[in-house]
Amino acid sequence: MTEVTMDKIVSLAKRRGFIYPGSEIYGGLSGTWDYGPLGVELKNNIKNLWWRIFVQDRDDMLGLDAAIVMNPDAWRASGHVAGFADPLENGKMFNTMFTTSVGTGVDAITVYLRPETAGGIFVNFKNVVDSFHPKLPFGIAQIGKAFRNEIAPRDFVFRSREFEQLEIEYFVRPTEWEKAFGEWQKNQIIFAETIGLALSHIKQVEVSPEDRAHYSKQSVDTEFVYPFGQKELWGLAYRTDYDLAAHAEASGVDLSYLDEITGERFIPHVVEPSFGIDRTVLALLVSAYAEDALGGEARTYLKFNSAVAPVKAAVFPLLKNKPELVAKAREVYGMLKKDIPQIMWDDNGNIGKRYRRQDEIGTPYCITIDFDTLGDPSTGSGQGSSLKDTITIRNRDTGEQERVSINSLASRIA
Ligand code: GAP
Repeated sequence: MTEVTMDKIVSLAKRRGFIYPGSEIYGGLSGTWDYGPLGVELKNNIKNLWWRIFVQDRDDMLGLDAAIVMNPDAWRASGHVAGFADPLENGKMFNTMFTTSVGTGVDAITVYLRPETAGGIFVNFKNVVDSFHPKLPFGIAQIGKAFRNEIAPRDFVFRSREFEQLEIEYFVRPTEWEKAFGEWQKNQIIFAETIGLALSHIKQVEVSPEDRAHYSKQSVDTEFVYPFGQKELWGLAYRTDYDLAAHAEASGVDLSYLDEITGERFIPHVVEPSFGIDRTVLALLVSAYAEDALGGEARTYLKFNSAVAPVKAAVFPLLKNKPELVAKAREVYGMLKKDIPQIMWDDNGNIGKRYRRQDEIGTPYCITIDFDTLGDPSTGSGQGSSLKDTITIRNRDTGEQERVSINSLASRIA
């Protein structure tokens, strides 16, 4: 059993270009993190999968990308200006919304950076209904940045001041919220499994009334066992008609929905699954981190599944000083890259070092072009043309290698 510590995760994430401390050359900025070249690929893979599964593959979902800075009246109506606060040590409440200003001089107004993406969805409810006339139940999904001036940011990207949420406001008839709540609770487990989170580390926990957000009548957190303890990964809340009713009252705009089947007009209720991408990336790094010995040598690897792995395969020429090998390897690399963009070229150091480097970033397959690939009987294993246009493909988890034809490679990796 590998012991997974935060030191190991943070150091690998930095060394291999997943996550760097924010503004590091200036000494950092507490609660901010920058995603490096592999971190952004990993994050995009998860976001694209989420969008595909929860928006594009379904008939009851619509997408949105609303502004981060909203009219501050929206945050007054939602209760965030009055109540989105955490206790300081002296017992005083501190509102964790960041403020900035919009406009110049006397016309400038104080505005907030959104503390949840949900706000943009509620204020666009009527726009989306007027454009698309969706039938209940239906959801509006959004992926975007959210900001909280956390009193004590900590535990790497677990609690940061700028983070990203993938949120769905799922609108239902008031009598149907429990069914939707149960379905989204299951969907969160299914998504965890799809991206490769360790299910043994996942627990769904009912949130007590005193710990629920001000808008929620029932909440279940999906928690994950991080190296620093079992804590929230994602949220699920029954927000009732709290938000739409509050925005209707404050804006004076009718946000009710006409049910064409029953002829009734009412404010829909809302079930809200909320996924934080940063905690997801952290949980995924913890789930994937592994150490073992391969061929008598210790190694560290990330056992990402192919769907989320930032690099799907790496292509090497066996030797970098043999132009005929390099040319053939470039040809294979170019062919694969057309269909699978997340392919990496590596010709640095010996083959063993390249394998270790790819293992450490979780690349499922390494493809080596050797003399047999060229089919010249005077080189390679001497089998000559029978192995022409075949390559070796190495499996990250077992270290086993197989010879397959170049033609079958793309479908094999896809
Ligand atoms: N709209 C509902 C909402 O914002 P939340 O439980 O406050 O609910 C939802 O946040 C998710 O956003 C959390 O489950 C977590 O994944 C993520 N999140 C919240 N605060 C965060 C922070 N300071 N740093 C990183 N992720 C955070």
